[in-house]
Amino acid sequence: MAIEHGREASEAQIAVHWREEEYVRPPARFVGQANLADPTVLERFSEKNFPECFREYADMLHWDRYWHTTLDTSRPPFWKWFAGGKLNACYNCVDRHLAKHRNKAALIFVPEPEDEPIYAVTYQELFTRVNEVAAILRDFCGLSAGDRVTIHMPMIPELPITMLACARLGIIHSVVFGGFSGEAAGRRAADSGSRVMIYADGYYRNGKPIDHKASADIALDVAEKEGTKVERVLVWRRHHGQYLSSTAMVAGRDYFIDELVRQFARAKVDPLPMDAEAPLFLMYTSGTTGKPKGCQHRTGGYMAYVTGTSRYYQDIHPEDVYWCMADIGWITGHSYIVYGPLSLGATSVLYEGVPTCPDAGRPWRIAERLDVNIFHTSPTAIRMLRKAGPNEPKKYNYQFKHMTTVGEPIEPEAWRWYHEVVGKSEAVIVDTWWQTENGGFLCTTIPALHPMKPGSAGPGALGIYPIIYDEMSREIPAGSGKAGNICIRNPWPGIMQTIWGDDDRFVKQYYSKYCRNANSQDWRDWPYFAADGAVLPSDGYFRILGRVDDVINVAGHRLGTKELESACLTVPDVAEAAVVPVVDEIKGRVPAVYVSLKPGVSDGQRVSEQVIGTIEAIIGKIARPKAVYVVPDLPKTRSGKIMRRVLAAISNAMDTGDVTTLANPEIVEEIRLQVQGKEPVALKEGPEDVKQFGAVE
Ligand code: PRX
Repeated sequence: MAIEHGREASEAQIAVHWREEEYVRPPARFVGQANLADPTVLERFSEKNFPECFREYADMLHWDRYWHTTLDTSRPPFWKWFAGGKLNACYNCVDRHLAKHRNKAALIFVPEPEDEPIYAVTYQELFTRVNEVAAILRDFCGLSAGDRVTIHMPMIPELPITMLACARLGIIHSVVFGGFSGEAAGRRAADSGSRVMIYADGYYRNGKPIDHKASADIALDVAEKEGTKVERVLVWRRHHGQYLSSTAMVAGRDYFIDELVRQFARAKVDPLPMDAEAPLFLMYTSGTTGKPKGCQHRTGGYMAYVTGTSRYYQDIHPEDVYWCMADIGWITGHSYIVYGPLSLGATSVLYEGVPTCPDAGRPWRIAERLDVNIFHTSPTAIRMLRKAGPNEPKKYNYQFKHMTTVGEPIEPEAWRWYHEVVGKSEAVIVDTWWQTENGGFLCTTIPALHPMKPGSAGPGALGIYPIIYDEMSREIPAGSGKAGNICIRNPWPGIMQTIWGDDDRFVKQYYSKYCRNANSQDWRDWPYFAADGAVLPSDGYFRILGRVDDVINVAGHRLGTKELESACLTVPDVAEAAVVPVVDEIKGRVPAVYVSLKPGVSDGQRVSEQVIGTIEAIIGKIARPKAVYVVPDLPKTRSGKIMRRVLAAISNAMDTGDVTTLANPEIVEEIRLQVQGKEPVALKEGPEDVKQFGAVE
């Protein structure tokens, strides 16, 4: 892995990232009303009370049968949480709120077109609609508990409605981000063995209607080639009775849900009590190989973890208006738009579109109009809104009490704009570090109890004990100034169960590296390896430096460079391909592609266009490279390995280091000239993840 031997992160290296900042205290007004302002919670969740401390989260749920064992460690690292318990996630998010809150808005939908009316879905209406869809899934599609359904949908209320309908019956949903291509959705549907896919016909993005159903036809072809026949496609229409797509509905295969629902109107489907360990959903994410992995999340532990963290860290109270601007197609949306907030009976805002559409004042107009007081977004969105409209927030009369940043490191400058301008210096900020695999927050401050430190996530969340190890499994102590691999020493309820269908990969990916004894049933022998580099100053606030593997974080979204490279290699004229991260002022990192051509091929321009088109088709537009360089050869070691580190250095104007031992050292200068031009460029230090990129392969 990339960060070796607890190497010193020198002042210069850290300075590239940013210097240690002063603390910022949470505003007294926030502290006075916070859900969690009692410092004894730190004692309750201290290591000596582990794992029983997590009862506090599980007790926030309704259990059909209470569990007998909080943590079962009999088969590490396949931990069981709340073993023996039974519950239903949908019941917890919907039914249990009806008695007191049936008329309260569960979801408020904000369409992207600003002249289209905003509407609310009350808990009663959510209950009715979820039941109707559950009836369709059970009685029309013949689905039952344990079956998988792939949902490829944009940000419309029908997405959480469909997810909750699945959860009601124990059907495992696998939501694929709407911006992924049909091909990406098809491969995920095949991996999960989904016989049913659920689509929307279209949606609005950046002021334009998007034909989304077209992706379904591609997805089904791809799934079939991979051995999975999808029998039914259910299609939600963005506007009832009006079809936004130009593709035909295939008779006997494709059905409009708004038509089916007529047969199932007023149907009621009892929520099925599920084992705490029954899988609730899969969420595919990128890793170090070309194949995305299906992170399998359990019902009981996941629900307990997202409910507890939503209450304590998002500080959601019944009267709050909470808006997380992420997409439900990512883990942030699952945990902190749908399951966490709805489990608390909160009001969760759903915005369909792009934050800067039609202008950079849009989010603040939405906040003012709905009186949003809790806001949750990513550093990329913050940077984008700051660039496009630095003074826009001042024009609108809203007041946030709490704001979250998630998904990437946030530089103190962007943090301060978020704090002073967006938060009007009156909102507390939590910088939450976690991953698709984790279910919920791992490092963050407790908003009313810890001061904030711009640019640092903070200490481990309650009941989470992080540690930084070097490559030799030695602990890197706090305050040493050394960078290393951040790990979590203990299991926690939100951790995934396994990779769908691939237990070996799960163990290898997350536990092999630092496991002390593969035969041990003691959780202390099984630290979780997160694949992020981090440093820990003496105050215990973790600062995340970025990925130490082949994953690049583009605008807070994970892309596997191997996935991109595999896509490039499907272009017939491409001989070899390498993908590297390039620092981008707004998106954090973006991919740059280097390809060499097969002998006899000379039309580089055509090939680079094909490479871009292919990446967009196989993965999606989010993976569109910043540049494609067609080069005569790629720099290689004598054993033939492509030196991605050298290419990353060139793309980021960093020092390429000693290249004389390469098999083809002369190519480095040739590529440098092609990328940087003849004028000498000022060399930069470059951030840790880029500097280390591909260092060890
Ligand atoms: O590198 C870390 C970065 O995002 C990765 C996880 O991405 P994903 O699974 O898509 O989940 C994103 C949302 C939970 C991590 O390995 N990351 C996430 N949050 C932060 C972060 N880096 C720095 N600071 C954060 N707050």
